[in-house]
Amino acid sequence: MMLLETKDLTKKFGELTAVDEVDLQIEEGESLSIIGPNGAGKSTTVNLITGLLNPSEGKVLFRGNDITGKEPHSIVQLGLSKSFQTASIFPELTVQRNATVAALGAEHGSFSLNFLRRLVDYDDVTERAEETLRDMGLYEQRGIPAESLPYGDKRRLEMALALASDPDLLFLDEPTAGMSPDETDDTVDLIERIKEERGVTIVLIEHDMEIIFRVSDRIAVLNRGAKIADGTPDEIRNDPEVQDAYLGGVEL
Ligand SMILES: Nc1ncnc2c1ncn2[C@@H]1O[C@H](COP(=O)(O)OP(=O)(O)O)[C@@H](O)[C@H]1O
Ligand SMILES: [Mg+2]
Repeated sequence: MMLLETKDLTKKFGELTAVDEVDLQIEEGESLSIIGPNGAGKSTTVNLITGLLNPSEGKVLFRGNDITGKEPHSIVQLGLSKSFQTASIFPELTVQRNATVAALGAEHGSFSLNFLRRLVDYDDVTERAEETLRDMGLYEQRGIPAESLPYGDKRRLEMALALASDPDLLFLDEPTAGMSPDETDDTVDLIERIKEERGVTIVLIEHDMEIIFRVSDRIAVLNRGAKIADGTPDEIRNDPEVQDAYLGGVEL
């Protein structure tokens, strides 16, 4: 069974069709990248899946269950998590506290799924938070306030917060935006590592084609809201429609 599927997913903002009948299929354990020019509808697609926006039409299925239009917090509890913007970081709290709060949020969610469970297992939560900080290379910085982190570490903390809920499916929307080449390299290494070590299924939106080809098992290409191609990196590289529509004929 597919981990995630969208069917005819559509979002209209007034006259504009930002996402136009997009069908995606994501298998457990694979990493799918969504590429396309600015304004193609990539972020909107992810926001429709993670519940931040409601679709105008179409469906989102997670493990075959219809999750269309559910609230973001219930979607996180089901095992989908998005690396949010800096807003989700509590600036005055330490890196460790931030991770614990994120891990706790996901744990609380299990109450609604399992009402017999009355006590949160704080040891579990702390352990998961620490493990995530280690995975993201932030363990040494765990005692300092999040606001004192350098930019690249702050972006990685956002990823750590998304990972702390122990998701089955992690969405990363331009995780390396604004990072220096070194920070970018480190971050891509980390993405590859969490994929391998945790077996997290990853949906990545990214501009840098080198990164895309390095981490993707499959690539979906959006253009003006519509999916124009979907395939392995090799298939996408050699797809004439992709080269024309998206890359203006530039060789990949
Ligand atoms: N909340 C919104 N209200 C109106 N238009 C929006 C909104 N969000 C995105 N759009 C428009 O939808 C289109 C797709 O945007 P987006 O999904 O952010 O593209 P991408 O992430 O591929 O750059 C763009 O034309 C954008 O201006
Ligand atoms: Mg975007």
